Amino acid sequence: MSIDKYYITTPIYYVNDVPHIGHSYTTIVADTLARYFRIKLGKENVFFLTGTDEHGDKVAQSAEAKNLSPQEFCDEISAEYKEAWSLLNISNDYFIRTTDKDHEKRVKEIFTKLKNAKTPKGNDVIYQDEYEGLYCTGCEKFLTERDLEDGMCPDHQKEPEIVKEKNWFFRLSDYIKDLEAKILSGEFEILPESRKNETLGLIKQGVGDFSISRESVKWGIELPFDSEQKSYVWVDALSNYITALGYPDDLDNFNKWWPADLHLMAQDILKFHAFYWPAILMALGLELPKREFIHGFFTIDGKKMSKSVGNVISPAELVTRYGTDATRYLLLAQFSFGLESDIKVELFDEKYNADLANGLGNLVARVSNLIEKNFSGKTELKEINIKTNISENIEKYKFNEALKEINKLVAESNQLIDKEKVWELVKSEEKKAYDVLSELASNLLFIAKHLKPFMPETADKIEKIFKAGKIEKPKEALFQRI
Ligand code: MSP
Repeated sequence: MSIDKYYITTPIYYVNDVPHIGHSYTTIVADTLARYFRIKLGKENVFFLTGTDEHGDKVAQSAEAKNLSPQEFCDEISAEYKEAWSLLNISNDYFIRTTDKDHEKRVKEIFTKLKNAKTPKGNDVIYQDEYEGLYCTGCEKFLTERDLEDGMCPDHQKEPEIVKEKNWFFRLSDYIKDLEAKILSGEFEILPESRKNETLGLIKQGVGDFSISRESVKWGIELPFDSEQKSYVWVDALSNYITALGYPDDLDNFNKWWPADLHLMAQDILKFHAFYWPAILMALGLELPKREFIHGFFTIDGKKMSKSVGNVISPAELVTRYGTDATRYLLLAQFSFGLESDIKVELFDEKYNADLANGLGNLVARVSNLIEKNFSGKTELKEINIKTNISENIEKYKFNEALKEINKLVAESNQLIDKEKVWELVKSEEKKAYDVLSELASNLLFIAKHLKPFMPETADKIEKIFKAGKIEKPKEALFQRI
């Protein structure tokens, strides 16, 4: 598939939680892809969006518990996400908040369009009905009996409330056949294959209409045609992917980027992105995103990450211990993107020392030192062209495989130093030593080039060292041993 622009999104994260390594994982992957495609397609042809999801009763309740207004509370937590992304060197082009005035205005316009639209069968897209259901304010969604464990929401360990109210509904049932066809034909791609099959299986079980407004909620966007009702948070939240582009008032910018090339998320929000979102887009007469990739959840030592278990790992903790690039590396290199993964914290140190301190960091130190000491920092750089699958692996979301290849190149260079005993060679065969060191420095530039999307600062440092007129061993190790 050839593409000339790349629009990539993460989910917009709830301000009810603070950033942890689950959110960080999705965001680092998005950042890696954005950086990769900026190199491939040009900076101006990539748009990378992330942000925060800020409406709903749960947010209002959390704000009250902290004696803050909902807006003050959202400002605080949203800033924490921004701070976390800056610690991780995330290069998003825009950060959307659902309390942005532009977003709120645009969501209202979207509701007006939906109100006036007809389904392909000629029915009103939205209609009023009575709704009674088990609502979990933690999830911001109605649960079915099947979802409960011992009568409680398994995620929030709380009994859902029975909520009965008049709502506006979206006639998903009129779109589901079309949607199924688009998934089957690949026009709307859901990856990996297992998630696509899961989606098709859910369609077979039957997918009903869904409610798109709430009467009881106060902290939300008011419907333009019914002042008693607020937008259901998911309609508000999903719309971010198009309101951030200016839809529906800045169509030039919108048309430049839409459809999205990739929506990234984990399996918890598959349903909303595989059914609700495409159906809303169809009702608006818009194209569907080209692709959604659904990755697995992290657990920590086999347990779900949660505040009550007390095992939540923040990105700041990892960055303090390992630094920004190593944190990005450790999250991407250890797990297969897509699968559920169990984090064992003690393995982080091991992998850090093996791959980064003793691997890449040591290689940079050895090569720069030998060139500085024996050849007054001079070397001859050549264009290296080693056949690798690093780019293919990145485009196939096999980030750990791509990094494995990079590690292999590092290991081969380290082995070359040992095999040639370069530290002795410099005394016995100066010319040969010079050639080997030139090759090693050139290898390191090749490695740096491929590391850029993953570890941008490290790649820059390596380039700076070896492209300098006079190569010097860096004063500080790239990765301090732990
Ligand atoms: N606000 C909604 C999304 C709206 S998008 C239009 C939401 N927010 S969330 O804060 O709960 O974020 C969920 C997402 O965070 C997951 O889909 C995933 O990308 C990431 N993760 C949260 N916990 C995670 C793990 N334990 N493991 C891996 N990723 C996880 O849902």
